[in-house]
Amino acid sequence: MPRRILVYLAHPVLERSRVNRTMIDAVRDLPGVTVRDLYEDYPTLAIDVAREQADLLAHDVIVFQHPFYWYSTPALLKEWQDLVLEYGWAYGEGGKALAGKLTFNCVSTGGPQAAYQPEGYNRFTIRQLLAPWDQTAHLCGMKFLAPFVVHASLRFTSREEIAPHAANYRRVLEALRDDRFDTERAAYEERMTDALDGLISPIVRNQGLVS
Ligand SMILES: Cc1cc2nc3c(=O)[nH]c(=O)nc-3n(C[C@H](O)[C@H](O)[C@H](O)COP(=O)(O)O)c2cc1C
Repeated sequence: MPRRILVYLAHPVLERSRVNRTMIDAVRDLPGVTVRDLYEDYPTLAIDVAREQADLLAHDVIVFQHPFYWYSTPALLKEWQDLVLEYGWAYGEGGKALAGKLTFNCVSTGGPQAAYQPEGYNRFTIRQLLAPWDQTAHLCGMKFLAPFVVHASLRFTSREEIAPHAANYRRVLEALRDDRFDTERAAYEERMTDALDGLISPIVRNQGLVS
């Protein structure tokens, strides 16, 4: 069975977005992919925990797509984590609901790639800055994959310039869905965007992985 993918989009002003809007538009129509716009669904932050948990249970791959805000996510995603990932459900005694699922962040940044290095002005890599997401996934028994990153968002002057990144994002989701993606390797890469050709295979890797 193909993997079922849930993309949580978290952008507080999508109508002013360039990168995230183009990226999400590139995957919306993909069979097997569900897109949820968290700021559209919860403009007052009143998160429906039961709905979220049901959606999580119904999918095998959970993607968090968001712009990088203060080296982290927009605030609603933090609220979502705080409310949805309950003790006894996501972690702790009896908390196995998410175990075995795959997860990664799809991140756009204002800063260039060179800034997100130990010697760069942001001092840390994106993957290092996402350590709370990595550890949250680990605590919940999920496999955390390297982030998909689009850097230097201000350099784009048109949707056409973002299109190759959006096409790669679509390739990643298709390959994950169809079991043509090397999740073992993606778990230790710094950014999956650096290694796409090695991660995506034209043939099915392990048929019947999802039962
Ligand atoms: C409140 C706020 C905080 C931001 N913090 C960061 C940051 O920590 N690092 C960074 O590289 N860019 C930062 N940016 C720039 C955004 O990441 C960038 O505008 C966004 O990724 C562009 O995507 P979009 O076209 O979908 O809006 C910030 C922007 C805002 C509005």
